[in-house]
Amino acid sequence: MENLHQERVAVTAVNPNMRSYEETYSSFQFEEVEKQFSWYETGKVNMAYELIDRHVHNGLSDKIALYYSDNARDEQYTFADLSKQSNRFANVLRKLGINKGERIFIFMPRTPELYFSLLGSLKVGAVVGPLFEAFMESAVKDRLLDSEAVAIVTTPALLGRIPRSELPSLKHIIVFGDEVEAGEGIVNFSSEMAQASEEAEIEWLGREDGLIIHYTSGSTGKPKGVFHVQNAMIQHYYTGKVVLDLKSDDIYWCTADPGWVTGTSYGIFAPWLNGASNVIRGGRFSPSDWYNTIQKYGVTVWYSAPTAFRMLMGAGDDTVKQFDLSSLRHVLSVGEPLNPEVVRWGLKVYNQRIHDTWWMTETGGQLICNYPSMEIKPGSMGKPLPGVQAAIIDDSGNELPPYRMGNLAIRTPWPSMMRKIWNNPSKYEEYFRLQGWYVSGDSAYQDEDGYFWFQGRIDDVINTSGERVGPFEVESKLVEHPAVAEAGVIGKPDPMRGEIIKAFISLREGYEASEELKQDIYKFVKEGLSAHAAPREIEFKDKLPKTRSGKIMRRVLKAWELSLPTGDLSTIED
Ligand code: WTA
Repeated sequence: MENLHQERVAVTAVNPNMRSYEETYSSFQFEEVEKQFSWYETGKVNMAYELIDRHVHNGLSDKIALYYSDNARDEQYTFADLSKQSNRFANVLRKLGINKGERIFIFMPRTPELYFSLLGSLKVGAVVGPLFEAFMESAVKDRLLDSEAVAIVTTPALLGRIPRSELPSLKHIIVFGDEVEAGEGIVNFSSEMAQASEEAEIEWLGREDGLIIHYTSGSTGKPKGVFHVQNAMIQHYYTGKVVLDLKSDDIYWCTADPGWVTGTSYGIFAPWLNGASNVIRGGRFSPSDWYNTIQKYGVTVWYSAPTAFRMLMGAGDDTVKQFDLSSLRHVLSVGEPLNPEVVRWGLKVYNQRIHDTWWMTETGGQLICNYPSMEIKPGSMGKPLPGVQAAIIDDSGNELPPYRMGNLAIRTPWPSMMRKIWNNPSKYEEYFRLQGWYVSGDSAYQDEDGYFWFQGRIDDVINTSGERVGPFEVESKLVEHPAVAEAGVIGKPDPMRGEIIKAFISLREGYEASEELKQDIYKFVKEGLSAHAAPREIEFKDKLPKTRSGKIMRRVLKAWELSLPTGDLSTIED
């Protein structure tokens, strides 16, 4: 396939400050990695202990673990502080009778309390479920119902989006904020924390015991609860070392929210397993606030996403010049394809190679990367890490030669591989339908040097600003609007956001297409589901293309949108 040729030049030599190729290879001996963790001596483990308390016992008590700032707060916490705060929260949970394996959701904006809660929940052996603060009632309800969560930590502003009467398993709502009075099922975070002891017993776990559930979107049905176990820490620790290149004096900043897997695997687990100082910035995206964050803390390692880099590029080179970003030594990206243009720009304005990394909620950790000790090719996701075997395979599981496009697949298992889809074993098995492979749902090809090049999703999942949105979930919300008869949702290519959500809608009798109605429908999804899932573009149609079995053919909608051939229409209704 000649036409798949892209720019394939390595940009700049490998940075000598980074871990060498030899070191990267030699440290992938997972047995060696395991010696870091408690189970090596006791057979038992606990992620929160390995993240925080282990460092306290190893002489890092006074090291800053967390630098936090937003427009109102500016704080810092040592490893000893985080140990105490998470102990307090663990005691709050124990008092409520919460036990190992039970699900606790965390639904709040990024503040230090989110991190205390998450770590404290892990200390009692609970499985945490982080949620974006942008989620509205129906998104919250689906996730809590499916996982039968027993508790949720939230803030007064978000409390109204938790439909308590419809959630029979939910016993406790822990609210961080002064205005809240304790009452039936409502616990005041601050007053309970103040009374709780700073000492707590760790719930020691097996390595296959639960850690976290991240809900993520597929093309059909409700979001899937991707379940990860303690054992994932091997991958988090190892990739933190050889991909993030974390060393003891690094100031690390991952811009992702913990509602997204990047914000936990690489916003919490990888940096703290490696004992790094972790920067968390609350509040919304703003180019000058972001650059100021790098300058203020002297950030050395920075992990963000293509959509953010594109917005920073849009803010202009002059904005960059107003700040001192010379502390940066390593920059990485994840979530969607990283445009070669952005890589070239990063080289020019930051004097840094932006390292693309590929992985998914389901994989728990990075698998294919431009890791620091190799040359990068702009536009390529990089190569499998040592210890990871990736391939392009056809639908029967045969490996394809270079430049042939096919399913991007990973040899099973690896340490952070998901262990189930909550309540949905058949969905889980779909990923492993080809013997010995995890089939990612992405299509890609490999070049003759073994670099992987992303081509697209095989299903209809939309990637908008790096977030996965399932078309079905949006369509389901759309048809709840009184004017909407039917809806089909696709991702439409967009220079800034990667894709935007476009909805094709047929109206019910008695409704007229209008600009106002579009606005109203947009608002309806934004307020009922979440802002990032709301269709920025709406097109009214008399009829939507459907199969004879009644399924809306998103593929045809997409072809219309992009003026492409519609392909095989033999199953279309009329
Ligand atoms: C896409 C994010 C191109 C891909 C950690 C994948 C990427 C989905 C890249 C997972 C990349 C992620 N280049 N596409 N470097 N990284 N993707 O679960 O389609 O939110 O399947 O996890 O994002 O998204 P998720």
